Amino acid sequence: MTVIRPIQSVLFVCLGNICRSPLAEAAMRQAAKQKDLTLKIDSAGTGDWHIGHAPDRRARAAALQYGGIDISAYKARQVRQSDFVEFDLICALDSNNLTDLQAMSGTGTAQLSLLLDHLPGWQGQSVADPYYGDEDDFASCWHQVQAATESLAHMLAKNG
Ligand code: 4NP
Repeated sequence: MTVIRPIQSVLFVCLGNICRSPLAEAAMRQAAKQKDLTLKIDSAGTGDWHIGHAPDRRARAAALQYGGIDISAYKARQVRQSDFVEFDLICALDSNNLTDLQAMSGTGTAQLSLLLDHLPGWQGQSVADPYYGDEDDFASCWHQVQAATESLAHMLAKNG
């Protein structure tokens, strides 16, 4: 990724904001802490079905089991126009989310990318939606977003 300006804030976006993007938010908070990075980090969904809901039970379990992180207090919200100004980088979890974000971005200044663009070897790929899957799909999702956010945090620490 080309860094146009220092990135001090990152928003992760999926469809419902109850499975993939809360996991990415949690993993990024952990990665930023480990690298001593001061970043504003949040997550949101393109859809409105789950506004105000806690993350999916299986996402909460995966974050706790694999990351040791309690995400039960997270609350889903929908992407809003101001996000494109308030965040330096917005990472879409899949290509549909990215298309939706591109259509919404207007004159916003945020850089838009796929999350996996930040994981060497995975550029252009989507994080599969585990919502209709099982615990194994949530485990895979956690490991993928954990690797990608660690790589992103490493890049930000290097270029920061
Ligand atoms: P997420 O997963 O986008 O990773 O939060 C989904 C959550 C809910 C729905 C779809 C995907 N849904 O259709 O309600």
